[in-house]
Amino acid sequence: MSDQTLSRSYYDEFSENYERHRHEGYHTLIDDLEVDLARRYCHGRILEAGCGSGLILRRLAVGAKQAVGLDLSSGMLRWAARRGLSVAQGSVDALPFPDEHFDGVVSFKVLAHVPPIERALAELARVTRPGGHLVLEFYNRHSLRTAIKRLKAPTSIGSTYTDDDVFTRYDALDDVKRYLPPSVEFVAVHGVRVFTPVASIHKVPVLRDMFAAAERIARDAPLLRQYGGFMVVVARKRH
Ligand SMILES: C[S@@+](CC[C@H](N)C(=O)[O-])C[C@H]1O[C@@H](n2cnc3c(N)ncnc32)[C@H](O)[C@@H]1O
Repeated sequence: MSDQTLSRSYYDEFSENYERHRHEGYHTLIDDLEVDLARRYCHGRILEAGCGSGLILRRLAVGAKQAVGLDLSSGMLRWAARRGLSVAQGSVDALPFPDEHFDGVVSFKVLAHVPPIERALAELARVTRPGGHLVLEFYNRHSLRTAIKRLKAPTSIGSTYTDDDVFTRYDALDDVKRYLPPSVEFVAVHGVRVFTPVASIHKVPVLRDMFAAAERIARDAPLLRQYGGFMVVVARKRH
């Protein structure tokens, strides 16, 4: 099975359960931190590459001139379409959109699972207009999340697969800067999930509020923001 066929089948299965815990403390916090970054940098016509079931896209669509989602998995896209979102099926490394069509492009929890990463970033840059921003999330090699993940047993995502079955890459900031095509310049890095050791800590009263407050500060704080388990790299398309 090719990487892409396996990914599609993995995410089709994942789509059945994807939202089961998404409306609880930890996941809500991560989504809030990411949506807030997307809104800070992206306005007008927005693409979410790897939109999944549309939980983030539906929030970005509010007030946007246009909000479009793209995803590999028809299972995920069914949920997004049910939400009335404008979506297309395809892969981030071969986007079905014209050059310079979007003012902003975002991608959360997707690029770490894409083997041809340089081709994908070149495509995301191609569809961004000059001066527009790209908000791109990677899994950070230098983070508490990654250290703990390496010690954990694989997590089941349905009846067939565990999270070990999908290609996953852990990068450092310098790796990501190297992947960026010459048509974009690096702007900033933000760190989502700097301190949280395990998601379940956000179920514990008092601790939950302390960690949420700390994560909100760490995301943008100099010295801390490069250690987020989810490393959000912001780049701008050159004129
Ligand atoms: C963990 S989900 C994240 C969904 C959404 N961004 C969010 O934060 O809720 C990862 C998504 O990336 C999609 N994906 C994985 N590889 C892809 C590729 N090469 N092209 C497009 N989508 C892809 C999967 O189908 C899945 O819906």
